[in-house]
Amino acid sequence: MIETKIFHMSQIEEAANILKNGGLVAMPTETVYGLAANALNGEAVAKIFAAKGRPSDNPLIVHVADVDDIFRFNLVSDFPKQAANLAKHFWPGPLTIVLPRTDAIPNEVSAGLDTVAIRLPNHPMARALIKTADLPLAAPSANISGSPSPTTAQHVLKDLNGKIDGILDGGNCLVGVESTVISLCEDKPRLLRPGGITLRQLKEVLGDVLVDDAVLHQLKEGQKASSPGMKYKHYAPKAKVILLKGDRSAYIDYVNKNADNHCLALCYYEDVPGLLVKSEAFGSEYDDSEQARLLFDKLRKIDEMNDISTVYARCPNPDGIGMAVYNRLIRAAGFREVDL
Ligand code: TXA
Ligand code: MG
Repeated sequence: MIETKIFHMSQIEEAANILKNGGLVAMPTETVYGLAANALNGEAVAKIFAAKGRPSDNPLIVHVADVDDIFRFNLVSDFPKQAANLAKHFWPGPLTIVLPRTDAIPNEVSAGLDTVAIRLPNHPMARALIKTADLPLAAPSANISGSPSPTTAQHVLKDLNGKIDGILDGGNCLVGVESTVISLCEDKPRLLRPGGITLRQLKEVLGDVLVDDAVLHQLKEGQKASSPGMKYKHYAPKAKVILLKGDRSAYIDYVNKNADNHCLALCYYEDVPGLLVKSEAFGSEYDDSEQARLLFDKLRKIDEMNDISTVYARCPNPDGIGMAVYNRLIRAAGFREVDL
């Protein structure tokens, strides 16, 4: 056990020194909290995998504060025009770009791949931390592997207290789901993980964008994941989650007929008045940004209720940011889905 200190904005320097000395600090970003280490130091990065219990074949995102850092630290061997276009439109912001890497990237970061994922976050504390440390920071979500990503400093503390050196407290994350991941390492741009930047936004800049199979479907036995993280179950609460696909009245009817005392409805605000069982709303049916912002906090809350064995979740509309909400929920449900 080590002591996990909580830092505020005025203590950025102290947090940055920990990173310079090879330690681990959790930092707020606009998407979720990340668990940061010096991306150029393989030994420091190895501690991230140990603290999270993360499988070693799952690569990490490298965070920078300026596009120029990518060249200054010699992180990629190619920065194509499409990358420059994406950077111009969406950085700083919730977009991660996978590019061919250089030898400056330790194996621990790339997990044996010849590519590296780069992101320029849009959160003043994350950017200040990167700038003060003057390092590129490798940072996966700051949760124990398999639990929902953290959107508050308290979530991080719950998972990693005693395992990391510090947490920079920046309050609630505004986006609430992890960044969109797009690969520019093949003939065509490929969406590997949906997030805060939508498919439509990407297409407006790049034209054609392929959507990887793993985004909306369960990988088949033996099918290789383009993004290793997509093959894990992920975000799984203790209760069994079932996604119910249908309109409001079909959902309410199904839940009221099938639920007992140990069931919970994970629904939209608008569903609550019709439900006869316990419920938690993860936003309005008409606001996919709100659904994204609230989802992980609700999944964590349900995990703390010990008497819930089944969660009937309303299936989000997989458009816009809803694609990210659906992608996370279908994993929480272990791909259990019922058409009503
Ligand atoms: O919003 C975010 O992206 C947050 C914040 C902290 O920046 N980070 C985050 O990291 O979600 P993580 O490690 O939880 O998810 C990174 C995802 C994983 O699915 C991983 O497999 C994929 O990105 N990834 C990382 N490097 C990759 C690469 N070189 N090629 C393909 N996928 C990669
Ligand atoms: Mg993660």
